[in-house]
Amino acid sequence: MYRILKKENLAPNIYLMDIEAKRVAKSCYPGQFVIVRMDEKGERIPLTICDYDREKGSVTIVFQALGSSTKRMAGYEVGEEFKDFAGPLGNKSELIDETYEELHEKSILFVAGGVGTAPVYPQVKWMKEQGHEVDCIIGARNKELIILEEEMSKVAKNVYVATDDGSYGFKGNVNDCIKDLVNNQGKHYDLVIAIGPVIMMKFVCLLTKELGIATIVSMNPIMVDGTGMCGACRLTVGGKVKFACVDGPEFDGHLVDFDESMKRQQMYKTAEGRAVLKEKE
Ligand code: NAD
Ligand code: FES
Repeated sequence: MYRILKKENLAPNIYLMDIEAKRVAKSCYPGQFVIVRMDEKGERIPLTICDYDREKGSVTIVFQALGSSTKRMAGYEVGEEFKDFAGPLGNKSELIDETYEELHEKSILFVAGGVGTAPVYPQVKWMKEQGHEVDCIIGARNKELIILEEEMSKVAKNVYVATDDGSYGFKGNVNDCIKDLVNNQGKHYDLVIAIGPVIMMKFVCLLTKELGIATIVSMNPIMVDGTGMCGACRLTVGGKVKFACVDGPEFDGHLVDFDESMKRQQMYKTAEGRAVLKEKE
């Protein structure tokens, strides 16, 4: 069983939890994810790792209480336990395997959209630990939905906050902010790493293609087994079938078929909707 050590409400419907999971904490890296199951009958919820403390044996997850399962998960309190906390799953971020010289040659921009800020944080923190500071855009619909700004400011060189409604920081979405940095502020980037809603990653990739900046995205489709057997997380990347759980979750954003991925997500949303109705019966 995996005990909840800390619970924080970061923004409306967005929760952070530290979970006691010694084995995962010992071996995980930025970019990887876990699959959480609350109890025997619970749905498997894939969540990208937000932070980890190897000494304490804890792993931090951040999730949005949207569907029936994540809403139930938000009801759990400190001291309560999850049945499964499987991981670390997926591959660590590619940058982690780069040599010191390869990494330090790159000017990197992280683009974090909404809850996607959580999986961006450990990567930026890891970069800082290697002595390589990067820029980061945090985008949200409004000020209330901005998460981890303070934490990110401690590990990034520059943090640019953008809100769609202009209630805080730059007014506009993350793409408007990228354009402003590159076209008006003379910033140069060799690599963009974008993590957030699929629609955001799609449009960031269209823009970075135009700007000629290589881009990595992190895909988090519905997952069931997390081992490449069930096919739930299937994607098309560069015309080839890939499974986010074993081949990803990070991929070359300029090769991902985002439209297909969004269609598949929609299909599962309907299935989740049916599950909610069933619960209410
Ligand atoms: P949101 O819809 O509030 O969007 C966050 C920001 O993304 C916006 O403020 C905007 O700056 C940008 N954005 C959104 N649509 C855009 C567009 N068309 N063009 C340019 N920029 C755009 O995000 P949210 O509600 O926090 O996100 C929830 C979604 O994020 C869920 O679907 C969840 O599955 C996904 N998510 C993905 C990951 C991942 O690893 N990729 C991790 C966590 C959450
Ligand atoms: Fe089953 Fe990836 S979750 S194949």
